[in-house]
Amino acid sequence: MKILAIESSCDDTSVALVECSDKGFFVIEEKTASQINLHKKYGGVIPEIAGRLHAEKIIPLIEEVLKKGKPDIIAVASGPGLITGLIVGVETARNLSYLLKKPLVSVNHLEGHIHSVEIDSKIKNLKSKIRFPALALIVSGGHTELILMKKPGSYKLVGVTLDDAAGECFDKVAKMLKLSYPGGPKISLLAKNGNADNIILPRPMLHQDNFNFSFAGLKTAALYYLQKHPICHAELVSASPRCAKGRSRNKFGMTDIKDFCAGFEQAIVDVLTEKTIKATKKYNPKTVILGGGVSANQHLRAALEDKIKNLNIPLLIPELKYCMDNAAMLAVAGYYKAKNKKFTDWKKIKADPTWEIG
Ligand code: KG4
Ligand code: ZN
Repeated sequence: MKILAIESSCDDTSVALVECSDKGFFVIEEKTASQINLHKKYGGVIPEIAGRLHAEKIIPLIEEVLKKGKPDIIAVASGPGLITGLIVGVETARNLSYLLKKPLVSVNHLEGHIHSVEIDSKIKNLKSKIRFPALALIVSGGHTELILMKKPGSYKLVGVTLDDAAGECFDKVAKMLKLSYPGGPKISLLAKNGNADNIILPRPMLHQDNFNFSFAGLKTAALYYLQKHPICHAELVSASPRCAKGRSRNKFGMTDIKDFCAGFEQAIVDVLTEKTIKATKKYNPKTVILGGGVSANQHLRAALEDKIKNLNIPLLIPELKYCMDNAAMLAVAGYYKAKNKKFTDWKKIKADPTWEIG
């Protein structure tokens, strides 16, 4: 079956037409309009601007995608996310369902991130089958959650962030470093050439006997560190001597940004991987899944892969292009719902910004 999927929960308007079957998922067409350049000037996503831009872009994107084929089903991310964006996607999907007389599936955005691991852009066959029970670590700008799936469509939240999400922490600390939004990719790029052992930041809740997370304390620790030892920014480097090789601070007490980024990234990676391994040992899943925007982080991918290897459990990670918000992942999640006839009447579908999975 062909599924037309819509994603508009944050700062990407994305529409995809995906051929879905038990054998695999083939993305016939996907068009995405990113709003990042507009939100960049404000250092984060401004909901009112996001809503207006989704409304401007969504119909032209649908028109483009529909040139490649007609859908049998409409799928839409109806939560969680920004209400200003969700409402645009949901109202558009409602209208399409009514006008094209095609059934509608309402998909949780996090279900999409979980199923993103099943998309292979190069081949038509199923990239990797999720075996159940499965444990998913979903890490993005708005979420850090450990989700246990006993069977397809059954979700139990076993761990959640009590404050900031991991991606939010990356973005806020990047802002302190004067790096532009979204900060995660910029921090991870700088971290590649830094020494994480030179700057040790706290690993919040690492040793607590639960699977919850907290990143607000790490963000504050980063702020205090930077207040005490400011960064040698590129523009300051010529005015202040560089840090000597192997040292994180120069003689003025200024910090090497690469070491700082490496130390900060390591703290997040340690918490995410340790908690996931702990949960894996408790729940004995047949598959572990890593998804969400932060799953594009190479260090996190490698560290989790390395630790899971010892437990002999397959780890599924999305292709880089499907880590970020995209409509194709919603088509895949929508396929499983459509297969089980879990349709939503176009008269009843609603955007739910706080929709909790499970
Ligand atoms: O899933 P996503 O596209 O949107 C949400 O649903 O939030 O995730 C975006 C988040 C941002 O916080 C961004 O900084 C983070 O993913 N991110 C990264 C990397 N690439 C994106 N964080 C760390 N390292 C990366 N390489
Ligand atoms: Zn997302």
